[in-house]
Amino acid sequence: MGKGIKNNKIVVRNLGKKYGESGNKITVNGLGKRYEKEKKSLLFSKNVNPDVIMKDREDGFVLKDVNLEIGEGEFHIFLGASGCGKSTLLNIIAGFLSHTEGEVLLDGKPIIKPGPERGVVFQNADSAIFPWMTVWKNVEYGLRMQHVKKQEREGIVRNAIELVGLAGHEKKYPQELSGGMKQRVQIARSIASDPEILIMDEPFGALDAQTRRTLQDELISIWQKMKKTILFVTHDLQEAVYLGQRISIFSAAPDAHIATRVEVPYDYPRDLNDPEISDFTRLVHASLDAAINAHGEVNADKSAV
Ligand SMILES: Nc1ncnc2c1ncn2[C@@H]1O[C@H](COP(=O)(O)OP(=O)(O)OP(=O)(O)O)[C@@H](O)[C@H]1O
Ligand SMILES: [Mg+2]
Repeated sequence: MGKGIKNNKIVVRNLGKKYGESGNKITVNGLGKRYEKEKKSLLFSKNVNPDVIMKDREDGFVLKDVNLEIGEGEFHIFLGASGCGKSTLLNIIAGFLSHTEGEVLLDGKPIIKPGPERGVVFQNADSAIFPWMTVWKNVEYGLRMQHVKKQEREGIVRNAIELVGLAGHEKKYPQELSGGMKQRVQIARSIASDPEILIMDEPFGALDAQTRRTLQDELISIWQKMKKTILFVTHDLQEAVYLGQRISIFSAAPDAHIATRVEVPYDYPRDLNDPEISDFTRLVHASLDAAINAHGEVNADKSAV
């Protein structure tokens, strides 16, 4: 017994403890993004004069006054017309792109660069996975970069490959895989690094309906098992309603902002043929049409649902 301690009585009074207060919350306040200023950072070939290419570009904001709050473990969907700035927003949250005004915070700290707590899955698996590496090596890549020990890597990689349904294909190279399988490799690589937040930009956009549905189901089960926050862009309304807990709908660019937010009030798994869910999907469709047509006139950003 230590000096001065008479007995081992532990007294706890009015103790409070709340988990999740520093739980990877993403906050976007008054975010604006214009590309014109950064034109010199674009990659052009030697034979192209960037000033000529950029001459007719609108010198306006793509995103203007975007406000968002995404909590820990949330499955958050972004919908909007092509070119409204969905990828731009995800790239800013991923830390790949800077913004022009406003603030983007992760647990209250500004996002200024990519970080291990944020994993990104791109639409095009071909440009994201390495053709000279096997499935196993591709999935293992991020862990090697983080200097995770070999023995530990093995278990994590096996688990990630199993989770996405690629067991048995470990030794194959990307050119021996279908589009859906390559996308699974990308997802496995992302989850192997155990990010808290998965940023997914139309990850299933190029897949056939059947593969898409399978991967959607796998993603829901990964999300439920691993309790990740998922930010997911899609053009497919049914996919949005099948997957998301909340949907943010953009108005059209320029000056795109989040015109409408929708809560999806159904448990998983969802049956899209359920008449109630079909009606709900039509409602989301109508909201999307209205947001696109409003073109900057409606700004529901500050009145979050
Ligand atoms: N590097 C860049 N330089 C200049 N303009 C850009 C750049 N990247 C995107 N833009 C412009 O910003 C706007 C938004 O692009 P973004 O790719 O974010 O749209 P999106 O909503 O993801 O579209 P999609 O649904 O087609 O993928 C577009 O008008 C696009 O031309
Ligand atoms: Mg995009």
